[in-house]
Amino acid sequence: MFMRTDCRCCRGTNLTEVFDLGQQPLANAFLRSEQLELKYPLTLKECNDCGMVQLGHVVDASTMFTDYSFLTGSSQYMADHFAKLMNENAKRYVPEGGLVVEIGSNDGTALSSIQTRRLGIDPAANLSDIARKRGVPTITGFFTESLANEVTKTHGQAHLIVACNVLGHIDDLDNICRGVKTLLHPNGAFVVEVPHVNWLISKTEYDTIYHEHLSYFAVRPLATLFSRHGLRITQIETQEVHGGSLRLTIQHGMGHNSQAITWIEGELKPRDWSAFRQRCESSKQRLVDWLVTKDGDVVGYGAPAKATVRLNYCGIGTNLLPSVVDSTPNKQGHFIPGTHQPIYDPKVISDTNNILILAWNHEKEIRSKLINFTGQITSVSEFG
Ligand code: TMP
Repeated sequence: MFMRTDCRCCRGTNLTEVFDLGQQPLANAFLRSEQLELKYPLTLKECNDCGMVQLGHVVDASTMFTDYSFLTGSSQYMADHFAKLMNENAKRYVPEGGLVVEIGSNDGTALSSIQTRRLGIDPAANLSDIARKRGVPTITGFFTESLANEVTKTHGQAHLIVACNVLGHIDDLDNICRGVKTLLHPNGAFVVEVPHVNWLISKTEYDTIYHEHLSYFAVRPLATLFSRHGLRITQIETQEVHGGSLRLTIQHGMGHNSQAITWIEGELKPRDWSAFRQRCESSKQRLVDWLVTKDGDVVGYGAPAKATVRLNYCGIGTNLLPSVVDSTPNKQGHFIPGTHQPIYDPKVISDTNNILILAWNHEKEIRSKLINFTGQITSVSEFG
């Protein structure tokens, strides 16, 4: 672990700490037994120059990403979302025989939806195995400038490079941009999806802050980063996924489009971190008070990383929430880091009168699976 003292996007050193979640375990490091886990500081810093928000401490990437338990394919909604993204952009940018590369290709869900020449890159060996088994050629490794050079030599340049919810996981964004500069065909497009930090703040989504998410982006810092590498934003769309995300299309050249300029102007207003901190505290208090009234008669639904953060930040142990269910097979039989709830298959939801949806971004899909449940279903998002 090390402390990052400069801004990942503009490289300035004018950073201010704005939020502190204390010592937290790694949110996706599900435990095999109720062992004691390592905890690391979790703080947010804001760059006073370009408006970037990033973690104060960086945990070594190989500790977090080489055996990853999140499967894109576990949500049909997300699978459909990525299939649409791939198909629309392949149609627009990829000629006959052109190459599509996905950075952070996970279990190959998105790439499996297109028929063009394709290549996944993902550091998690367990996930790249799944992707290869379903016929998606995948390199197990981190996308870096040197890997981009190799891929360019062996496969040629890509007309489409996709990176969804990946940039936030990467410490050295300059290296990624140099890699994209090399690998991207002159007429190609680099399509990225990232949640917007201003929505995290306005919706009090503090549970999306964890060690794997090194950066919390907005258009202004990304525009600064891409400009430094001769890349320009040519399109911005907003998407509903992950509580509100930006989809940016980036191409070779200088000068961002007018949409980007409008976004940048809108982002110049200072963020109200003090109000955010107060909302986090009162949301925590309301959730804990509600759980106390249920006296342990609650099952948590979904064990995403954000459940780990929320349960740890709120100090919710097995006395208040005895267990959690999740459809991901390799999470079942494990325990939530820090608070140690056992994770079971949703098929075996025990006798309970209350389900608390922890994976709030999948609320609709989860509710549709619980139509026969006669008790009360509550989402953590109802607590603010
Ligand atoms: P995410 O919030 O990072 O997308 O993770 C969602 C988690 O919720 C993941 O572990 C799978 C789990 N899940 C279920 O258990 N049942 C469901 O119906 C859905 C959509 C997700």
